[in-house]
Amino acid sequence: MSPPDAPRERAIASFAARFGAPPELLVRAPGRVNLIGEHTDYNDGFVLPMALEQAAWIALTPRDDGRVRLLATDLGSGGREGLFDLVNSRSRATRGDVHHPEHGWLEYPRGVAWALQAAGHTLRGFDAALASDVPSGAGLSSSAAVEMAVAAAFAAASNIPWEAKAMARSMQQVENLWVGVQSGIMDQLISAAGVAGHALLIDCRDLSFEALPLPTEVALVVLDTGTRRTLVGSAYDDRRASCQRAAESLGVPALRDATSSGLQAVSATLDPVDLRRARHVIAENQRTLEAAEALKVGDTPRFGALMNASHASLRDDFEVSSTALNALVNAAQAAPGCFGARMTGAGFGGCAVALVATPLLPPFIEATLTGYATSGKRAAVIVSQAAAGASPMTLG
Ligand code: GLA
Repeated sequence: MSPPDAPRERAIASFAARFGAPPELLVRAPGRVNLIGEHTDYNDGFVLPMALEQAAWIALTPRDDGRVRLLATDLGSGGREGLFDLVNSRSRATRGDVHHPEHGWLEYPRGVAWALQAAGHTLRGFDAALASDVPSGAGLSSSAAVEMAVAAAFAAASNIPWEAKAMARSMQQVENLWVGVQSGIMDQLISAAGVAGHALLIDCRDLSFEALPLPTEVALVVLDTGTRRTLVGSAYDDRRASCQRAAESLGVPALRDATSSGLQAVSATLDPVDLRRARHVIAENQRTLEAAEALKVGDTPRFGALMNASHASLRDDFEVSSTALNALVNAAQAAPGCFGARMTGAGFGGCAVALVATPLLPPFIEATLTGYATSGKRAAVIVSQAAAGASPMTLG
């Protein structure tokens, strides 16, 4: 039984209070934590995320006048409500024209309607209430969860079969073309396709994936620094541009196709910053594949060591960590029961993830929080099992 303030219950209760009747449909889409494979997705590389129990939920009832009315229960005091017309976003989509971002919260659902119509779907509108417990700006893909939940709401209202890869590609278009953030495909795909109890090894070139069971004797602990990333957009775009320049110098379509020896061979001609960025991506792809192997054979110490190496590379070569992330990762790595820890997500703030022996979870958490507190900050801990991806649910 979920607590009364769980987002599922909040979405249902807010819907009933606002629209005067219970909702007909309920959908959810999870946030994610990436175990390893950071800043590799937009290099056609490999990632190993799992979906979280924390998710965005939408309670809805279809309506037939081509409009969407959405109550975002978590915004402001008492929530914020928006209304938009499917016809407007369709005509814009038909013209091949995209929205100039206003950065308002309603741009995400409007962008989802645009992308699904651009993919050829005929949409039915709905009245809906949205609630989420994915912390925002923490590197746990809160916006991908909202996009994917809205996509699932349209799928449920309009009888669109759930094709996770196609949905992920459409939702990436929302980020890239509608909102104007040049993110990769990882967040959307894991939110759409996550498997309970498993991490997914995703090949971001063809979007094929393999579900790898997570051992029960270890826990994946998400540690929130409490700091939020700032100016992440331009730093992220800079990293992408560095990777692209390095791939061009190497004469490969993407850094996924490069090798350490190939990089070594052109090192004299590459900008030193681009060289370090490429070194991270090439090694991180290798680490991700090795981590997947370690998971398959139950080699937890190896997996943990790869997480530690990933953090060092993100800190020193890719330069997307932060003082707070480094302090928290150091505290976690020194705590009892820890096999490995690293920052997770885009970086510059947000969360770390640690692999911990389940019986040592309480002392691990205590030592990590105490260690991090010496930097003057308080961390929050999220322990989540790997959850399933987005899904429509029956009510009742
Ligand atoms: C963000 C992006 C993802 C990915 C990560 C870094 O979460 O949305 O596509 O690039 O950063 O691994």
